[in-house]
Amino acid sequence: MDKNTKKEISNRMDKIVSLCKRRGFIFQSSEIYGGFGSCYDFGPLGVEMKNNIKKVWWEEMTKFHDNIVGLDAAILMSPKVWQASGHLTAGFADELVECKSCHIRFRKDELEKIEDNTEKSIAKKMAREMRCPNCNGELTKPRKFNLMMKTFVGPVEDEAAATYLRAETCQGIYMNFKNVLQSMRLKIPFGIAQIGKAFRNEITPKDFIYRMREFEQMEMQWFCNPQDADKFFDYWLEQRLSWYYRLGIDKKNLKTYEVPKKELAHYAKKAVDILYKFPFGWKEIEGIHNRGDWDLSNHSKNSGEDLGYLEEAGKDKYFPYIIETSVGADRSLFAFLCEAYQEVEGGRTKTTESTKETEVILRLHKALAPIKVAILPLVKNNEEITKKAKEVYQLLKKDFVCQYDEAGSIGRRYRRQDEIGTYLCLTIDFDTIKDDTITVRNRDTMKQERIKIKDIASLLKEKL
Ligand code: GAP
Repeated sequence: MDKNTKKEISNRMDKIVSLCKRRGFIFQSSEIYGGFGSCYDFGPLGVEMKNNIKKVWWEEMTKFHDNIVGLDAAILMSPKVWQASGHLTAGFADELVECKSCHIRFRKDELEKIEDNTEKSIAKKMAREMRCPNCNGELTKPRKFNLMMKTFVGPVEDEAAATYLRAETCQGIYMNFKNVLQSMRLKIPFGIAQIGKAFRNEITPKDFIYRMREFEQMEMQWFCNPQDADKFFDYWLEQRLSWYYRLGIDKKNLKTYEVPKKELAHYAKKAVDILYKFPFGWKEIEGIHNRGDWDLSNHSKNSGEDLGYLEEAGKDKYFPYIIETSVGADRSLFAFLCEAYQEVEGGRTKTTESTKETEVILRLHKALAPIKVAILPLVKNNEEITKKAKEVYQLLKKDFVCQYDEAGSIGRRYRRQDEIGTYLCLTIDFDTIKDDTITVRNRDTMKQERIKIKDIASLLKEKL
C-alpha cells in the first residue's frame, strides 16, 4: 500500500470518527479520565441509530420469519456454562506475542493475516522470524490468552464466587432451549433470537468501535434436524446478505469468506464470515456458523439435563444441529456509517455564510437514520413562523423522531441535517402563514414539494 492510499484511508477514518464525536453519535468511555480500554458510549444520535438497527434486525427475525421467538437471558450465568461450552478450556483464547523492546502486544494470527500484499509478506516474515513489525525487536514466544472477563458474585472474592461476563449471547439461548421449546410448544425447525451485551478481554482492540471489549450482539440460533443443516446454512447466509443489501450496503462492499477448517472456532463445523469493505480493509461484520450438536450435547452431558429432541414417538431422540447468525450491533452500525458517509466538494446546498465548503451527507437508509424529520422555520425572528413551526413539531414528535432547529441560515441548517442523515426537512416559511402549506425536502434528491399541514402526518407515514 503506498503512502497516499494509507493517508487517504486514515483521513476518511479520522473524518468519520470526528463526525461521530462532533455530532453526538459515539464518545470514548470515561473520556474525561483519558478514556477506558476500548469501551465506547453511544451519544443521542448513536443510540437512536443503534436502536433502529436492533429494531430492524428484531423485526426481520421475529416478524418476517415464521417460527422464530425472542429471548432476553441474563448476562451473568453459572461458570459451569462456560466450562461446558468450551470457552474456558478449548479454544476461546488468542495467541499473544509481545515485543521485548517496545512492549507492544500483537495477536499472532493477526500478524499473519494482514491483507495488503507488500505488508503481508513483511508481516508474515516478521511473524515467522519472531520480529516486531513496529520496531523489529525480538518477540516473545506466543502464549495463550483467554478472552473471558472474570468477575465475582457475592461479598467474598474467592474462586467459589468467580464467574464470567458472557462472551457470546447465544449461551443464554442454549440454557433456555428446553424452556422455550416447551413453553411455546415449538417444533423443529425453529429459531430463538436475542440481542444483548457481550464482553471480551481483547488483546488488540483497535479501529475505533470495530473491536471493543464491551459490545452488543444480535444472535439467532436456528435449531434443526442434522440432515437439514446444510440447506439451512445456505438459506440463512443468503437471508443475512439480503438484509444488508436492503439496508443500503452496496453489493461491491460485501463479500463472504469461508473459514478454513484449521481456523474454525472450537464449536464450529462450518463458518462463513460476511466481510465489509471498511476504509481500513475487508473485515468481518457477521458470522454464519454450523455449530452442529456441540452446545446442546455438551450442556446435556455436563448438566445432566436431557436436551435431546424427540421428533416422533417411537423414534430415537437426537440433539438438534444449530445454525447461528451472529452480528455485532455496534460493528454493523460502523459499517452502515462508513457506507453512508459521502463528501461533496464545494457542497450541494448553498449557504449565505460560505458556498465553497465541502458538504458531508450521511446517506443512511431511512429506517436507520437517527432523526427522521427536521422542522425548520425559515427565519427565527418572525413570531408567526416560529409559532407555526413549533405547532408542526408538536404535531409530529410523538410519531417520528424529530429535531427542531432555528439557528443559522436555512442552507446551513439543511447541511447540518444532511450531515447526520436526517431523511426529510420541513420548512415553514412566509407562504405557510397564508395557505398553511410547508416545504418537504428530501435529503438524497433535494427535491422539494409543497404539502398542506393537515396532510403532513399521513404523508410522513407513507414516506418513512
Ligand atoms: N456466537 C458466535 C460468536 O460470538 P464471533 O464471530 O466471535 O461469533 C460474532 O462474533 C460477531 O460479533 C462478529 O461478527 C462481530 O460483528 C461481533 N463481535 C465479536 N467480537 C467483537 C468485538 N470485540 N467488538 C465488536 N464486535 C464484536
